[in-house]
Amino acid sequence: LKVDASPQLARQIPDTLFGIFFEEINHAGAGGIWAELVSNRGFEAGGPHTPSNIDPWSIIGDDSSIFVATDRTSCFSRNTVALRMEVLCDNCPAGGVGIYNPGFWGMNIEDGKTYNLVMYVKSPETVELTVSLTSSDGSQNLASTTIPVSGVSNWTKLEQKLVAQGTNRTSRLQITTNKKGVVWFDQVSLMPADTYKGHGFRTELISMMLDLKPRFLRFPGGCFVEGEWLRNAFRWRESIGPWEERPGHFGDVWHYWTDDGLGYYEFLQLSEDLGAAPIWVFNNGISHNDEVDTAAIAPFVKDVLDSLEFARGSADSTWGSVRAAMGHPEPFPVKYVAIGNEDCGKKFYRGNYLKFYNAIREAYPDIQMISNCDASSSPLDHPADLYDFHVYTDSKTLFSMKNTFDRSSRNGPKAFVSEYAVWRSDAGRGSLLASLAEAAFLTGLEKNSDVVQMASYAPLFVNNNDQTWNPDAIVFNSWQQYGTPSYWMQTLFGESSGAIFHPVTITSSYSGSLAASAITWQDSENSFLRIINFGSDPVSLTISATGLQARVNALGSTATVLTSSNVMDENSFSNPNKQSRCKSRLFLTLSPHSILRLPSPNSWQRCEAA
Ligand code: AHR
Repeated sequence: LKVDASPQLARQIPDTLFGIFFEEINHAGAGGIWAELVSNRGFEAGGPHTPSNIDPWSIIGDDSSIFVATDRTSCFSRNTVALRMEVLCDNCPAGGVGIYNPGFWGMNIEDGKTYNLVMYVKSPETVELTVSLTSSDGSQNLASTTIPVSGVSNWTKLEQKLVAQGTNRTSRLQITTNKKGVVWFDQVSLMPADTYKGHGFRTELISMMLDLKPRFLRFPGGCFVEGEWLRNAFRWRESIGPWEERPGHFGDVWHYWTDDGLGYYEFLQLSEDLGAAPIWVFNNGISHNDEVDTAAIAPFVKDVLDSLEFARGSADSTWGSVRAAMGHPEPFPVKYVAIGNEDCGKKFYRGNYLKFYNAIREAYPDIQMISNCDASSSPLDHPADLYDFHVYTDSKTLFSMKNTFDRSSRNGPKAFVSEYAVWRSDAGRGSLLASLAEAAFLTGLEKNSDVVQMASYAPLFVNNNDQTWNPDAIVFNSWQQYGTPSYWMQTLFGESSGAIFHPVTITSSYSGSLAASAITWQDSENSFLRIINFGSDPVSLTISATGLQARVNALGSTATVLTSSNVMDENSFSNPNKQSRCKSRLFLTLSPHSILRLPSPNSWQRCEAA
């Protein structure tokens, strides 16, 4: 294996090469990175027509002791449904009657931690409400307090801190009373006091994102942006402002309700917290099943311009002032937008695209625009800065696709491989085999990073209780998380963004199942060589480098290895690190089915002479 690090062949990889695609899929956001513990906090999930289904809320008590129904008496104009609870019993059962919310498959309540409860209440009579965190059957009490409500015929905001006196991973929030009368509830929220930077995100999931060293964050979808029907598509305007006032919406592609606590503003905040460039994928007037005629697209274009003013406008602009009021007077640096998702073949795509493109170019000349049409093998028929490229395929095909961009035109828009993954038969629920093919594919993207500007795996997250898409990079439940081999594989590539690429040639009878890439850094002595053995035989390689010299004895150095004796091996909650990168003594025989990154930082250095 030869690395040619001579200056004439060295090329800078774009700063943006590896990033993250975050989609609200598999409960990645609601019940995922967004730390809100109450599901359906505003009772809106059952729809605007009352009575409505209050799921997953449930009732404590029977028909003779309590009557619970929704009505439309909320004080919030965009989410009018509220819950009316009528207590019928004079002698209520011990513990009272009321309602409870199990969160997203159980709330993770941890000993000693503080949880902030907010709820809106209306009660013409004086009542005492007991709010508690309990085990899923109510038998174990983890935190409890009594809140007197002294006859409020107007909606009143109540706030209470609850400190847990025990740990239970599948807890629930319950609100009970012993007193006959009527109480209304709306917008009941329970957030852990401790979230990432205080911004509402689950810290342990954010640290897994940070370990990928993401240079961009593409959000919020995917198909989530489109909707099966336009009426269910993500609407940024409905997802900003005070959380209590957000209507929430049913994501009909992935089939679940989101209260939209994780809204457009929070995505921008997340980008900032990750140090990643935000890439706003907006709906272009096209869903899976309906489309806005280009002749009628103008209000949608205006809506997107408003979203950009919200992100980038000064604090005294119309929409910038809304952002500032939410706590971020400084603009968010949105430099990339994607005009729709996977819509290239749609009837009105090109017409709508051009309307968005022209309006954005005029208002924000520096914003780079991403087309949904693939230009990897033939030129686009419309202007674009980048084009989307999505690939989900089997491992052999993806391995061979490492050469895909070798043949792409060097003129015209750059490629954004915004979704790639091995799926179906040889993916398992995240197998080593899948990650090997993906790693080989990434070496091809590095090699072609003069035309490939960005790449991200998809999907990133799955809540183990709602896997609508398989496989995914990070698996979690209410309290645990682990990376699949595809996640660990990505951690071996994060440092490539902005590095110097050097060509690698492999001369071996096994070269059909090998892939490799080499990078160095301009201002440091770090260098990495990654070698992927996709085959089932061990391979011995002699490694030589032009323009690099070994600073330490290579054999005394360490390498990072991702491998296993079984290529279909997966991680799990009980064995989260079966497939994770590990340091090992450097060996020049490459195990079957392995990724080797060598050596560790600082063990090679650039040198002037060959
Ligand atoms: O990543 C899952 C889905 O795959 C995305 O929503 C969509 O863009 C693609 O079809």
